[in-house]
Amino acid sequence: METFDAVILGAGAAGLMCAISAGRRGRRVLVLDHAPQVGSKILISGGGRCNFTNTGTAPDRFVSANPRFARSALSRYRPKDFLELVEKHRIPWHEKTLGQLFCDRSARDIVAMLLAECAAAGVVVRTGARVTEVTKPGRFQTVTERGTIESESLVLATGGLSIPKMGATGFSLDLARRFGLKLVETRPGLVPMTFEGEALEMMRPLSGVALPAIARAAEGPRFPEAVLFTHRGLSGPAILQISSYWRPGQPISLNLLPGQDPTALLLARKQARPKAEARTVLGEFLPQRLAQALAEAYLPPMEMANQPDKGLRALADRLRAMPLSPAGTEGYAKAEVMLGGVDTAALSSRDMQANDVPGLFVIGEAVDVTGWLGGYNFQWAWASGWCAGEAA
Ligand code: FDA
Repeated sequence: METFDAVILGAGAAGLMCAISAGRRGRRVLVLDHAPQVGSKILISGGGRCNFTNTGTAPDRFVSANPRFARSALSRYRPKDFLELVEKHRIPWHEKTLGQLFCDRSARDIVAMLLAECAAAGVVVRTGARVTEVTKPGRFQTVTERGTIESESLVLATGGLSIPKMGATGFSLDLARRFGLKLVETRPGLVPMTFEGEALEMMRPLSGVALPAIARAAEGPRFPEAVLFTHRGLSGPAILQISSYWRPGQPISLNLLPGQDPTALLLARKQARPKAEARTVLGEFLPQRLAQALAEAYLPPMEMANQPDKGLRALADRLRAMPLSPAGTEGYAKAEVMLGGVDTAALSSRDMQANDVPGLFVIGEAVDVTGWLGGYNFQWAWASGWCAGEAA
């Protein structure tokens, strides 16, 4: 039987960072992944350029049943720590918007950097490794098709359930449950929303139209970012963000004219452009196709001079806070992340070790800590992985 100090299941963002931090401490580390290559989600992230961190990282940008849990790890491994690593490897990067840092070239640079750091720390990485069983008669015994590995520490880092066609599994969740750890119910997050009936009939022809807006779910903050109409409903950063706070049956609302007073705008245009069609006036502020759809849905087909103030005010109210009732989401097939996961109450916030199972660690997306869109999820993976590696 092979022996290692620490076995890490999952060679994704969190697992590789954990391996680097444990390996640098002189621990003998083995990382196992069932996929043929490491870091598949890193490679497809950020449209292939990997939004690898966010300079605005703060605990309030994460969704969790215990919002305080992420504080410790996030403060011990910060965006600047990851950036130092990126710069050490001379990877060119840029800030896109809202503190989001991306690779200039390709996400491959990040995977190559992590593998180089693993090699320098003496970490053994095995891909195509199927784990069939894990037991803990004393030390952990990880059974694979190629033999059993014994270790003092075991780190669960197989990520969440999003994008099952890329090999995402609930493996860490199942194992955690078997070791007696509680789970918080899982659901897709950062995911496009779907609509039905009249709402979808209005949205479908607008597929491809995007505009700046402020989106809001019944709970959680407002997100002033872009909204995109799709053939199934709504997407775009603002919608993905609120999807992590949305619960089935709840309404959402969109401010389609952020920073403007729609009532004052429409009443002023009635005076200034009495002969203009309502859709033409709306087209001054909104994408043409959306302007036309809104005018047709909510105003009689008359020039501005003849539009009653009451109707203009009612439309203005809708532009300020368009109430919408999503039918659902596009699910894990399209979700960037999984919400929920291993209950943080079962883990030490300092090193991610299970309170009741010494030597067992859970990191990354498998834990009930989910970041906003914009590099926060990788920062959580790096931070939780790093902190676990300091103790595993
Ligand atoms: P991750 O999923 O990275 O790694 C898990 C590893 O475990 C994988 O290598 C997998 O093969 C392996 N594994 C799974 N089951 C196994 C099993 N049974 N046995 C062995 N190995 C197993 N975030 C961000 O901050 N910025 C961004 O730009 C993006 N972009 C983005 C785009 C898309 C399309 C998606 C789907 C997601 C993102 N994300 C993101 C989210 C980010 O990718 C995600 O939060 C992290 O990769 C989570 O890191 P983990 O290491 O926890 O899991």
